[in-house]
Amino acid sequence: MSQTPLVEMIDIEKHFGGVRAVDHVSLNLYPGEVVGVLGHNGAGKSCLMRILSGAMIPNGGEIRVQGRAVQFSEPNDARAAGIETIYQTLALADHLDAVANLFLGRELKTRFGNLDEARMYAATKDVLARLNPNFKNLRDRVSSLSGGQRQVIAIARAIYFDTKVLIMDEPTAALGPSETAMVADLIRQLRAEGIGIFLVSHDMHDVFELCDRVVVMNKGRVVGAHRIDEVDKDDVLSLIVKGELPADWSARNLAEAPA
Ligand SMILES: Nc1ncnc2c1ncn2[C@@H]1O[C@H](COP(=O)(O)OP(=O)(O)OP(=O)(O)O)[C@@H](O)[C@H]1O
Ligand SMILES: [Mg+2]
Repeated sequence: MSQTPLVEMIDIEKHFGGVRAVDHVSLNLYPGEVVGVLGHNGAGKSCLMRILSGAMIPNGGEIRVQGRAVQFSEPNDARAAGIETIYQTLALADHLDAVANLFLGRELKTRFGNLDEARMYAATKDVLARLNPNFKNLRDRVSSLSGGQRQVIAIARAIYFDTKVLIMDEPTAALGPSETAMVADLIRQLRAEGIGIFLVSHDMHDVFELCDRVVVMNKGRVVGAHRIDEVDKDDVLSLIVKGELPADWSARNLAEAPA
């Protein structure tokens, strides 16, 4: 790919005392690409994503967004650069409706400084229609909605603000099969719109269904970065568990490579 990456993380380091949570990690993300971030518990996935989302400050390394060096000291800095994060918990305000959740902390105001309810309602309707035309419950408290509907609101909130990069941490972990399928459709749609997505997941099915590339972390280091068509589930499991590809991987891939 010759275009400029949306995100370049270069030689990122984060340690806690003697624990190297992120150990000299470099990683790129291109427009319209879904990159799976995999690894055992404690491998450093969340730390790396928290660094990109401005929620954790690295000890070393550089981040570039569309070729420009950036420094994030809080999540609002990352948001201003077009990087949004959906946490596993979704972080919705349960007692508020979809409209209020979408604009929480970033409310639209009229020119007199009052909340612009009409404009926020219309904008919420638009962005939800783009994601899911059947979504009608704009004024219900989100606590009364299904897991899938809540996920739609979290995604809507993340993409409304001119988002270029979306970080999703286990987006389908708490969902049933039909809701998982819906979130998968949303991810494909966002990719088609040119958004780059980091997908942290333990679910091999989701990963092989959705990702263009996978990056596997082990004890803070990247032990494998592959196009999804270069690896199978056993290869990825071997990277996760042993930190290396099976011994026969290169032989298999050389055999399969076109002449
Ligand atoms: N705030 C912190 N203080 C101290 N150590 C931390 C902190 N956050 C993470 N760590 C350590 O850094 C390492 C990487 O943790 P991280 O949360 O990034 O793992 P992970 O790959 O997201 O795992 P999981 O799959 O369980 O979510 C772990 O050893 C963890 O204990
Ligand atoms: Mg984690």
